[in-house]
Amino acid sequence: MKKLTSIQSNLSGTIQVPGDKSISHRSIMFAAVAKGTTRVSNFLLGADCLSTISCFQKMGVMIDQHGDEIIIQGKGWDSLSEPTDILDVGNSGTTTRLLMGILAGRPFHSVIIGDHSIAKRPMNRVSNPLQQMGAQIDGREFGNYTPISIRGGNLKAISYQMPVASAQVKSAILLAGLQADGVTTVEEMRTTRDHTERMIRHFGGEIEQLGKVIKVQGGQTLQATEVRVPSDISSAAFFMVAAAIVPNSELILPNVGLNKTRAGIIEVMERMGASIELIQDEASSLLEPTGTIKVSYSSLQGVEIGGDLIPRLIDEIPIIALLATQAEGKTVIKDAEELKVKETNRIDTVVQELTTLGANIEATPDGMIICGPTPLSGGNVSSHGDHRIGMMLSIASLICENPIFLEDAEAIDVSYPSFFQDLDKLVK
Ligand code: S3P
Repeated sequence: MKKLTSIQSNLSGTIQVPGDKSISHRSIMFAAVAKGTTRVSNFLLGADCLSTISCFQKMGVMIDQHGDEIIIQGKGWDSLSEPTDILDVGNSGTTTRLLMGILAGRPFHSVIIGDHSIAKRPMNRVSNPLQQMGAQIDGREFGNYTPISIRGGNLKAISYQMPVASAQVKSAILLAGLQADGVTTVEEMRTTRDHTERMIRHFGGEIEQLGKVIKVQGGQTLQATEVRVPSDISSAAFFMVAAAIVPNSELILPNVGLNKTRAGIIEVMERMGASIELIQDEASSLLEPTGTIKVSYSSLQGVEIGGDLIPRLIDEIPIIALLATQAEGKTVIKDAEELKVKETNRIDTVVQELTTLGANIEATPDGMIICGPTPLSGGNVSSHGDHRIGMMLSIASLICENPIFLEDAEAIDVSYPSFFQDLDKLVK
């Protein structure tokens, strides 16, 4: 149980948050199947990304770590070897689903397991298209839940219309498509984060993108490169909201990934009236655009959030819900059913925990409605083992009248092991 007390003063200063989780995972995966030595810098040393490293080491890939720099000796797709041990993905959905895409094309047997949260997350969204491509995949409830076993190889290309807006599903199909016979086509229902498409190009591969339709030719060899991982906008989001709700605060967040398919929170905060300034880095890496975000305290209004915007801020909804408790009027979050299949059911966990703190918030079938502004009280809350719920509640504690007692605060290590140290540095 971690005790968190409100701050008497404000937040100010500059903080570079750790590397992007989605991009860190992909850097290891692409480097492992590319030819040559890839150097990754600003890698996120969170538990999830370390799970990805360990899975590839179990398939014989040489990976060395020096601080947040990772060196991967890739020898091409064929160099991955049949693992003698189960592949443990821990809490990481991205590791599970993208790994399934890679393993679908490998001519060997492997078994994926994870923690109790992973065991509840649906995998048939990935198993189904990969089975259509020819992979043998099984698991509890016919391949829907871990433990999942895969015997891959001899894939044929498919044309697939995605029934869910999920970058993980899209990425798994593209990774399988790179190994398949023919051209694989994926059509998205809503545009999701495009880190995989960018990585394919960065590692010398070819990929065609026309609106929501993406095509990849099978049989491509990828070449090693350098990857500089930008700071994670999903981690920066906690401090952006902190600065916006703690009176007299101002925070500067440099080197943050500003990829349009991820940066929906900036748009929402602007619409809510937050004082937010962006300075795009001129020398953004070819891989991803980056920049500095400056946020100051200001008054906020409720907004409606839905449709195509949802995949662009899906991981930020817990912290946006907290922001909305401090905004004048009603905030409606809709079209966000996907929240139910994240690390926790985030409609339930957000509504439950913010209600405990005294927020006026109600769950809907596809999101939530929040009326503000409301003072927040404090009390006993839990992360429910979900890193983003844990961080949202920690930021809430800054403005609570009484202390918060946060159960399972360790869950935060999944994406931001130095979260509390960084937060402490900013409290004046
Ligand atoms: C991710 C995609 C999103 C996101 C997750 C990371 C990725 O999941 O919630 O944290 O790296 O591709 P879905 O693809 O399931 O929406």
